[in-house]
Amino acid sequence: MDLMALPKAELHVHLEGTLEPDLLLALARKNQVEVPYSSRDAVLAAYQFGSLDAFLKLYYAGMAVLRTPADFTALAEAYFDKVASQGVRHAELFFDPQAHQDKGLAFVDILQGIEEGCRRARAKHGISSLLIPCILRHLDEASALRLVDEMLPHKDRFVAVGLDSSEKGRPPSLFVKAFQRIRDAGIKTVAHAGEEGPADYMRQAIDLLGVSRIDHGVRILEDAALTREVARAGIPLTVCPVCNVRLGVFGSLEQHHLPRLIEAGLAVTIHSDDPAYIQSYIGDNYVACANTLGIADSTLKTIARRSFQASFLPEPERARLAALVP
Ligand code: HPA
Ligand code: ZN
Repeated sequence: MDLMALPKAELHVHLEGTLEPDLLLALARKNQVEVPYSSRDAVLAAYQFGSLDAFLKLYYAGMAVLRTPADFTALAEAYFDKVASQGVRHAELFFDPQAHQDKGLAFVDILQGIEEGCRRARAKHGISSLLIPCILRHLDEASALRLVDEMLPHKDRFVAVGLDSSEKGRPPSLFVKAFQRIRDAGIKTVAHAGEEGPADYMRQAIDLLGVSRIDHGVRILEDAALTREVARAGIPLTVCPVCNVRLGVFGSLEQHHLPRLIEAGLAVTIHSDDPAYIQSYIGDNYVACANTLGIADSTLKTIARRSFQASFLPEPERARLAALVP
């Protein structure tokens, strides 16, 4: 089966994680931002991560080159141009507004820049998209609450709010108030949990933040009762197999728990996370799961259909897209 062409939804991708070395260098030149690299190869050579935090350090450093709304348009447009050939029909993009505050970029400026990239993607490739700004969990609650205040006047322009960044020692319980305000405004929530943090963080994400999906969640098997509950409730887990390996969550792809998650009846989907940093987009992840983990074509088709069903599109559109999967 042609897994690249298989229609799919990307539900776990950080827009800033799609910043390819060539665009990073071009924006650095345009915006006169100094970066410690002089070539694409030098950038890629620096991308060695043994942990989430090692990755995040380079990921936040790379963002320094994003200075204007037009930069975000270029970033989003380049991302969609890339994944148009990897079967993506719909994407829900994470982005990190707090990571751009020090550069004087307001939430609404970033939003407007990304929206223009999304409009171009729909016109050029017929790819639909929705936006999910994320709260950075390494920052404090006051910063999260300020961001919520800044975002809510524009709540019709994003579909959910997420929680990302460094996980260890930063439980979802720290952000209950911020997420309560978001839910009170009728906005959906998602959270990264169970990537490096314990299964208990997934329980907190569900019980305290009211998440509709869990991002990663690969450590859920450490809690058998939670595994049964999440499987029964059908809460989707947006798993990023190749990224997990590159960030040291698993020693190798062969050791990834994806087959066991599927066996446990969990509603897993397959995604890329930070494809430019990992050099592996969503279609590449599907291919790796087939070739290295031996996931059957029929299972990958189920996962592709599920990716549309687990999206935040309105139901008729979810069903229409899921029906494109052969
Ligand atoms: N985990 C947490 N935060 C992130 C990630 C991730 O994999 N990628 C970008 N921000
Ligand atoms: Zn992520």
